[in-house]
Amino acid sequence: MFDLIGRLHPLLVHLPIGILLLAILFEWLPKRKKYRYLKRSIHPILLVGSGTAIFSCLTGYMLSQSGEYESDIVGWHQWMAISLTVYSLGYAWMRTEKGFKSFHKAFSVVLLILLLITGHLGGSLTHGEDYLTAGLTSGSSIDISEVNLQEAVFYDDLVKPILEDKCYGCHGTSKQKGKLRLDEPQHILKGGKDGIVVVAGKIDESELVDRMLLPLDDEDHMPPKEKKQLTEKEIEILKTWIASGADFKKSVKDAGQLATLEKIISSEKSFSISDVPSDEIQAADQTALNELQKMGVVIIPVAANSNYLSANLINASSLDSAIDLLIKVKEQLVWLKTGDQPVTDNHLIKIGGLTQLTRINLDRSQITDAGLTNLKSLASLIYLNLNNTKISAIGFSNLSSLKLQSLYLYGTSIKAEEVALVKKILPATNIEIGNLQVPFLVSDTTEAKSARPK
Ligand code: HEC
Repeated sequence: MFDLIGRLHPLLVHLPIGILLLAILFEWLPKRKKYRYLKRSIHPILLVGSGTAIFSCLTGYMLSQSGEYESDIVGWHQWMAISLTVYSLGYAWMRTEKGFKSFHKAFSVVLLILLLITGHLGGSLTHGEDYLTAGLTSGSSIDISEVNLQEAVFYDDLVKPILEDKCYGCHGTSKQKGKLRLDEPQHILKGGKDGIVVVAGKIDESELVDRMLLPLDDEDHMPPKEKKQLTEKEIEILKTWIASGADFKKSVKDAGQLATLEKIISSEKSFSISDVPSDEIQAADQTALNELQKMGVVIIPVAANSNYLSANLINASSLDSAIDLLIKVKEQLVWLKTGDQPVTDNHLIKIGGLTQLTRINLDRSQITDAGLTNLKSLASLIYLNLNNTKISAIGFSNLSSLKLQSLYLYGTSIKAEEVALVKKILPATNIEIGNLQVPFLVSDTTEAKSARPK
């Protein structure tokens, strides 16, 4: 009960704020004759306002006892609120004394200042210290794929930004839900009201991981259901960090996690079987394969015992010759990743001839709308990644024959509003442009669908 009344505090404080503001307003309105009569009501309004302020102080005190608010701001807010309450009572009394008449307006200004300060401190407690400026800096949530893994410090560059984005709001400087702070190494190690939350090297004993993996509907799930959720990649990163010893200083490399993280960060949704054709195919020409390999192209079977191939051009020494060679294995080639190569519209003409492709990743290539048209010949294509390219919504005009299931458009100029245009051409395609509130967790597909712009 105590707890419940405390929790009503953020709501109840609006009463004294509203009522006292009314008193201030009435102090100034009678400058105009027709509002003179309002003057008489200022005294009772101040009394009612003070009364509700006293009540708010009590509920605020109860809330502060919940242990969820530890910051210095609580103390400041509390003393400002008490001063405000005492002051408004004093102000009410002074209004009955004839001698202070010429000071009434000045009193009201002081009351306004006290209200603003107390209110702002309270707001900082409920919404976080940066709540006034938060709207200005939104979009600050990290893009993990931008992190340079070769040099990254595991905690500072990967773990901390995730916790900051998804957890600090309730487990940071201004609030400590469950008596847990996640904003500094020593706090993370200390744990919450139920004890330690991170056990180095042991994911299954770490409460922090447990909570993230609970079903979304479980009331212990973190972050709580209505809040921005962790993405699959973020969960994998946090798990890998704890599994590798939860070290706060080591680089990703020194923690021995470079390969694992590269895999996590470069992976999109896990491949489905439908990405690989079901019919048998004879093995690709061995000389062509050897030449491709010599050129630095990573060309490997998509599965054990399969003749179907995936190619990654990331280390290819010559892009032009690599693409020419790929044509020789086009019957087997189903997945293609151009891996940061400067692929242009001209290359797309040839890629359009790789007719068995089911997945193409053109992330960071130099292609434009004009070149994209060449992909219309790829009847089996179900996955297309155009992240960080110059493609616009217009580029898709000729692609309505594609049977795409997933289309990635992160980091392009295509905005949420324009997704509708693309959607018209490709109605059955999942389009992901990033910056959506709801991540696409498997357990979460219905919610994710409704959040996706139509
Ligand atoms: C909207 C607020 C909110 C956000 C955001 C949030 N939590 Fe929590 N968290 C809570 C509340 C409330 C509790 C206390 C629940 C309870 O008493 O069981 C809690 C408790 C916990 C606990 C258990 C602490 C203990 O010892 O009982 C862990 C671990 C935890 N949160 C982890 C996280 C992580 C990790 C994130 C970010 C990915 C996160 N939380 C984000 C509200 C939040």
